[in-house]
Amino acid sequence: MKILAIESSCDETACAIVEVNKGCFKILANVISSQVKVHAKFGGIIPEVAARLHVEKILPIIDKAIEQANLNWKKIDYIAVTGGPGLVSSLMVGVETAKTLAYVYNIPLVRVNHIEGHLLSAGGAKNTKQKFPLVGLVVSGGHTQIILVEDYLKYKLIGETRDDAAGEAFDKVAKILGLGYPGGPAISTRAEDALKYKNQVTKKLQKIKSKIKIKLPRPMLDSENFDMSFSGLKTASRYLWEDLNKELSAKDLEKAKALVAEEFQKAVIEVLVTKTVRAAKKFNAKSIILGGGVSANSALRKSFSDATELAGLNLLIPDFQLTGDNAAMIGMAAYYHIKAKNFVQPFNLKADPQWELV
Ligand code: KG4
Ligand code: ZN
Repeated sequence: MKILAIESSCDETACAIVEVNKGCFKILANVISSQVKVHAKFGGIIPEVAARLHVEKILPIIDKAIEQANLNWKKIDYIAVTGGPGLVSSLMVGVETAKTLAYVYNIPLVRVNHIEGHLLSAGGAKNTKQKFPLVGLVVSGGHTQIILVEDYLKYKLIGETRDDAAGEAFDKVAKILGLGYPGGPAISTRAEDALKYKNQVTKKLQKIKSKIKIKLPRPMLDSENFDMSFSGLKTASRYLWEDLNKELSAKDLEKAKALVAEEFQKAVIEVLVTKTVRAAKKFNAKSIILGGGVSANSALRKSFSDATELAGLNLLIPDFQLTGDNAAMIGMAAYYHIKAKNFVQPFNLKADPQWELV
């Protein structure tokens, strides 16, 4: 079966074609048009601008995916679309396009939750069979959730952030440090610089480091539950950065910035890894499955890989091109809805910006 999937929940216009054959997925096309450069000028996403760009891009992107897969509409068996959560005006572009195409070509339509797409983006890429239960961690710009996957389409929320999502914290701390948008990749690069600077710490910086500890809290690390909180970490990062600004020269500040980025990243990763591994043990899961934009972070991937190895757990991690928003993950998640015959009538489908998976 061939599934054409559309994703437009935030600032990526995406279309993918996923083939499912004897329980194995093959991504025939995965076209993504990112608006990140446009929004970077504003320091964040402007919903009105995002929607307008989706309108401009969506049809050319769909055409491109069909062309890349060397197919035509007669060969498409199903259409899948992200129904929510996300920015309403962005979602509507994908949803209205998918509805129209499903109606005109008379192709069955399924709606997929964006978080379900991220959640299954790692497991699906190779084959559709998993040993359940899995413990999933979705870490994106809008969500940070630990989810128990009892089976496909059977999810339970184990824990989530009580305030900012991890990706949001990356973006906000990057802004505080003057690193631009999106913050995740910028912090990650600066944190790598910190390793370089460790060998060339000036006397002044050394003195400051003994005066101002470049140490941030690990919020809720020891709490009994699986909830998290990243808002206080963001505030602590701001105070630390302000203190350093009072003491350091511009040159030393650049180095200190890398050290703060590294410490912030370490704090977020420690909380995410500890809570997720603890949840896997508690719920007797054999595997942890990661997904979402933050799962592109190489230090996070390495920490999860080390921690799961130590705990004797399997780690399912998405390919880099499936970490950020993409339509291939929507196509893969759609497969389970198609198997369950969860179809929607085109005229009944509406974008749902608040749609929670669990
Ligand atoms: O999943 P995603 O593309 O969109 C949402 O559904 O929100 O996630 C975007 C988030 C942004 O906050 C971005 O800063 C973060 O993922 N991100 C990263 C990295 N790449 C993207 N965070 C940390 N390290 C990265 N390498
Ligand atoms: Zn996303």
